[in-house]
Amino acid sequence: MVVLDGKLTSSIIRQELAEKVKSLKSAGKKVPHLAAILVGEDGASKTYVNAKVRDCEEVGFGSTLIKLPSETTEKELLKAIAKLNKDEDVDGYIVQLPLPDHINETNILLAVDPKKDVDGFHPENVGKMTLNLPTYVPATPQGIVELLRRYDVPTDGKNCVVIGRSHIVGSPMSILLSQHNYPGNCTVTLCHSGTRDLKEICQKADIIVAALGRPAFVKADMVKQGACIIDVGITRVEDPSKKSGFRLLGDVDYEAVAHKCSFITPVPGGVGPMTRAALMMNTMRVTELSE
Ligand code: GUN
Repeated sequence: MVVLDGKLTSSIIRQELAEKVKSLKSAGKKVPHLAAILVGEDGASKTYVNAKVRDCEEVGFGSTLIKLPSETTEKELLKAIAKLNKDEDVDGYIVQLPLPDHINETNILLAVDPKKDVDGFHPENVGKMTLNLPTYVPATPQGIVELLRRYDVPTDGKNCVVIGRSHIVGSPMSILLSQHNYPGNCTVTLCHSGTRDLKEICQKADIIVAALGRPAFVKADMVKQGACIIDVGITRVEDPSKKSGFRLLGDVDYEAVAHKCSFITPVPGGVGPMTRAALMMNTMRVTELSE
């Protein structure tokens, strides 16, 4: 069994990006600048966004964090987005999700300039991704693809089950893994809350991507011997023994499942750090795609 080490792999990617930044600088070119908008006080979102800003600093990108209060209106957020669309110094930006309930997420994502949409959430970029045209691919599925590539995980002709159909992870993941290139060329089954016989479907899978957000949902009796397991789940569960007051649990019952696998991602230290690395890679590509 091989542990797909996202922490290690992402640190290698950051080193590679830092080298590219050095080359850009020495060629007198502009260094990528990533901005992030965070609305409200959600603890997990704050942690993720702060980590993204730290990553920018580490690789030498410019970064801007725009923190807005939870009472921010949709109109005010659209104004902040319009400002970033115009800002020539900002190459790419993200609006951290989820947004407060009173803000319409679709209206916000549609307002982001597709050229600066390093999250790849704008319909124009989703369309391009679906057609396998050069674009920004959402960071979590992109990070997973990068991890599979760097560990040479075989995907050609494999049965892949994706659990969860979110626009951020499950849906793009199912598209990428069915595309006619490596890593991909899988026969993909996209499962969701309406799926019947999920256990039997999973038992036939060579690759399972668990992205439903339910701790320890994937049990050993759902997993075929030798399967590759990608765990996207990262749920905070109260744990008074921890300094933070919580611990992170994946969607896979790791202890019970790991021994059956050919490859498995841990939580934490698997998909999470790869998501951040993929966002940095997308930001580096802004200049490439615009040229
Ligand atoms: N919330 C959870 N994952 C993501 C992500 O990849 N991008 C943004 N903007 N928000 C998120």
